[in-house]
Amino acid sequence: MFITFEGIDGCGKSTHTKLLSDFLNQKGYKTLILREPGGTDFSEKIREILLTSDFNLNPEIELLLFEAARSHLTQNVIQKELESGTAVISDRYFDSTTAYQGYGRGINIDLIKICNYLATKGIKPDITFYLDLEIEEALSRSKDRILDNIEKSGNNFFEKVVEGYKKIADEEPERVIIINANGTIEETYNQIIAHINKKFFSNTSSNNNEK
Ligand code: TYD
Repeated sequence: MFITFEGIDGCGKSTHTKLLSDFLNQKGYKTLILREPGGTDFSEKIREILLTSDFNLNPEIELLLFEAARSHLTQNVIQKELESGTAVISDRYFDSTTAYQGYGRGINIDLIKICNYLATKGIKPDITFYLDLEIEEALSRSKDRILDNIEKSGNNFFEKVVEGYKKIADEEPERVIIINANGTIEETYNQIIAHINKKFFSNTSSNNNEK
């Protein structure tokens, strides 16, 4: 089982990644939480270059570095863990590249899809939760953090990223579920668990989701 979380910075992905992992542990699954870019020594090094270095990278280099980090993680961790039956939960995966480098930075979407395919060898999440949150709310939730290089790109960029995520969800409604993340943690959690129950545990009542 491969589950990913997507959304703009500050939307609560890391909180819900952990809560879902706890839920799946209770169901008897071994889980693994990952974040992108990152998850292997190599990919964590690329993360540093992408998010905190002052190389002033152009969008094409950004794209290729995110894909390099993803390729290493997919080949060395995700593929093996999925084969051994682990429930892999990732905070971001290839939809981030489509939304940020594609719709946000303006790189051709067909090219992005090819790069995503190269990096993942076609390994796709079974389900992806797009946590949909107003940009102002997301920015205010993350206002005390130091902004990474991508987050410094401004509101106009984030608007394009959000539009991009909605197009991604429109294109693949079976896989990409839009979750309204403007409410409390519990309200968001309940929506996520209802979808997980429907998709993976359809004999289980969706109320069986105590946190
Ligand atoms: P991170 O701190 O993990 O994000 P979050 O704020 O969601 O916790 O930083 C990842 C940053 O990299 C984030 O700003 C989104 C960006 N990003 C891309 O632009 N393209 C990608 O393919 C990925 C995986 C992330």
